[in-house]
Amino acid sequence: MTLPAGPRIPKLLTTWNWIRRPYPFLEECASKFGDTFTIGLAGLPPVVLFSNPEHVREVFSDDGETLAAGAFNRSLAPLLGDRSVLMVDGKSHLRKRKLLLPPFHGERMQSYGAAMAEITERKLASLPRGRPFALHEVMQDITLEVIVRTVFGIVEGPRFDDVVRRTKRVLELGAWPPLLLPFMQFEAKGHSPYGRFKAASAESDRLIYEEIRRRRQTGERGKDILSLLLDAKDENGEVPHEDELRDELVTLLVAGHETTATGLTWAFRWLLDQPATFADVRAAVDALGAKPSPDALAKSEMLDATAREALRLVPVIPLVGRILQKPMRLGGHELPAGVAVACSIYLAHRRAAAFERPAEFDPTRFLGKKLSAHEFFPFGGGVRRCIGMAFALYEMKIVLGMLLTQVDLRLAHPGREIGMVRRSITLTPEEGLRVTLRDRRRPAARETSAVPAN
Ligand code: HEM
Repeated sequence: MTLPAGPRIPKLLTTWNWIRRPYPFLEECASKFGDTFTIGLAGLPPVVLFSNPEHVREVFSDDGETLAAGAFNRSLAPLLGDRSVLMVDGKSHLRKRKLLLPPFHGERMQSYGAAMAEITERKLASLPRGRPFALHEVMQDITLEVIVRTVFGIVEGPRFDDVVRRTKRVLELGAWPPLLLPFMQFEAKGHSPYGRFKAASAESDRLIYEEIRRRRQTGERGKDILSLLLDAKDENGEVPHEDELRDELVTLLVAGHETTATGLTWAFRWLLDQPATFADVRAAVDALGAKPSPDALAKSEMLDATAREALRLVPVIPLVGRILQKPMRLGGHELPAGVAVACSIYLAHRRAAAFERPAEFDPTRFLGKKLSAHEFFPFGGGVRRCIGMAFALYEMKIVLGMLLTQVDLRLAHPGREIGMVRRSITLTPEEGLRVTLRDRRRPAARETSAVPAN
């Protein structure tokens, strides 16, 4: 069986392109080979990429038995652990998903809104006025505190600070993209980058195990996700082992904050560059009142469209992958067992057939429209679709809305080209998007809303 054609360059060079310039590289491949092509990436079998919605539908229709995402996600195992929901396939995956889904159901979001707003408010008050800072770091602090509070129910104090600090350290060390490559994963007694990352990870695990044991011993329960997981029973009536809980908790901490923080940073990157769009979005939020409630922000159609458009234009994660467990016909190609297939979120989101002027940031394209899950899929799809989708969108809208109503942000270097850097599997604006902030000077009642001039 022959695979669809693709760039005939050494695997290491493709991997370099994939790490350093993924989006231009994907565009070059698509313009040369069309909708479907094959690339070689270090640590993976050949990867056949799809972006045509019909082919994406075929991939997402699989029940998880033939197309294994866990096998594709292996490079994240050192961070998340072998028992993480992201790492397993088949029945084991479905069982874990069932365990994790209830706290992320759309209806539960309101109960998290107050914490999201309170944490954002506190962070905003602590930011420097008039001095440049990296917005991505601020977004990370907010989303990390939100997820720590939601997952562990710890509100403040030394235990909270400890979990936040150690999780940050692990993620900083783990963000270096070469660590995704199997041959970079050697510990050298704690002296290599991987060794330092593993040592930090062990420290953070110690805290997590302590918390699991403490809760089991004291029987302390709350409205947090850990409380639900501690008591959740599987079909045999067994509660999860602490090692399994550790992996799921780390997965939620990691998957649940860096992604959302990055999506938010991209949203600001475009809004601050387009004063007219900024003014429209701010006007829509201002129409909700001087201090809209978290739920009112989350219900704003314009904020929803802005969050989705940011995730469309530059998806935080460029693709979702699966490995074939048996031969399969996909996109008109007979593919053998063992190869990888991936849906390119980026290329699908840039298809002119699905999106007019696809390279432009225009939230209004989402107003009053529901796009097909095979054309717009920043959260992946099928039986593997992101568990935290409703949570992430809810949080993005609250944070976006609060910043728009309370402060004026400006790009620290207006007009300067803003590149993209990879942090592990996510793609972030260069230098974390340097901005300056000042308290918002509200316009007099009859004036239109103030637009920061860059
Ligand atoms: C803007 C923010 C986010 C983006 C762009 C994002 C994106 C994704 C993507 C692309 C996948 C892979 C889906 C696939 O393979 O088809 C995924 C999976 C996952 N995400 Fe998210 N995510 C975000 C936020 C969150 C949050 C807030 C949480 C939890 C609090 C979360 C938890 C997970 C989990 C547990 C999985 C594994 C699902 C499975 O394998 O069944 N994510 N996410």
